[in-house]
Amino acid sequence: MEIVSSVSEVRDRVKEWKREGLSVGLVPTMGYLHEGHGSLITAARGQNDKVVVSIFVNPMQFGPTEDLASYPRDLDKDSAFCKALGADLIFHPEPEEMYHEGFSSYVDMSVLTEELCGLSRPVHFRGVCTVVTKLFHIVTPDRAYFGEKDAQQLAVIKHMVDDLNMDIEIVGCPIVREEDGLAKSSRNTYLSDKEREAALVLSRSIQKAQELIDAGETSADVIVDAMTALINREPLAKIDYVKVVDALTMQQIKTIDRSALVAIAVYIGKTRLIDNLHVK
Ligand code: PAF
Repeated sequence: MEIVSSVSEVRDRVKEWKREGLSVGLVPTMGYLHEGHGSLITAARGQNDKVVVSIFVNPMQFGPTEDLASYPRDLDKDSAFCKALGADLIFHPEPEEMYHEGFSSYVDMSVLTEELCGLSRPVHFRGVCTVVTKLFHIVTPDRAYFGEKDAQQLAVIKHMVDDLNMDIEIVGCPIVREEDGLAKSSRNTYLSDKEREAALVLSRSIQKAQELIDAGETSADVIVDAMTALINREPLAKIDYVKVVDALTMQQIKTIDRSALVAIAVYIGKTRLIDNLHVK
């Protein structure tokens, strides 16, 4: 497995592969990899001849008060992880390689980005769409892999690929959870022991929603109220949002009568965590 940091090195390698008629899968990440990312790499490994993992903490998707500086990084550990899972190439650029001086072109999206995380993180999806578009242009993958934990991001990227006629298959992979239910996230490392315990309130509230839906509940208000009451019983938790939205448009719905997403964002102390349930 090779680790490269320049756009031209990635391009050279991918061109060689394409000349040989090989297919390429891309797993875009911000590093500090865990089993959630592992499931993306494994899926990519199974469906493509070559697998590229990008590791880039993208400054453009962080707001001014967010955790860009403290975002966890460990390239050595990430490299060993990718190698063990059979990745062929890691693309690990410096910010200057991705955003040269005078950089001034962006990919932005309306509607889907105006709900959920887009409300509390106003610049986030512009940064995600821009960097993912750049990665798609650099790597020219046949398929790209994203986790369903970031359900809004996955919907936004699928929509962007469709809107902009990008010839790339977007593959969503299921949420990977710790044994006790907490969704795997690089940001879980911020949690103290007490906060780690308190963070279970996210998956418990998702489970509550699942139970209600399994019992036939279709009212978004009833589901949101039950989840909100459960989360509010945890003193370390502060709700950012608890919402039920249309899974394609990300717009709020009153009744679950189509493919829907029950989505939550909750601060545990200073750490903002997300989780969701896709009701198909
Ligand atoms: O999900 C992430 O880790 C990031 O948002 C992504 C897709 C790698 C873009 O920076």
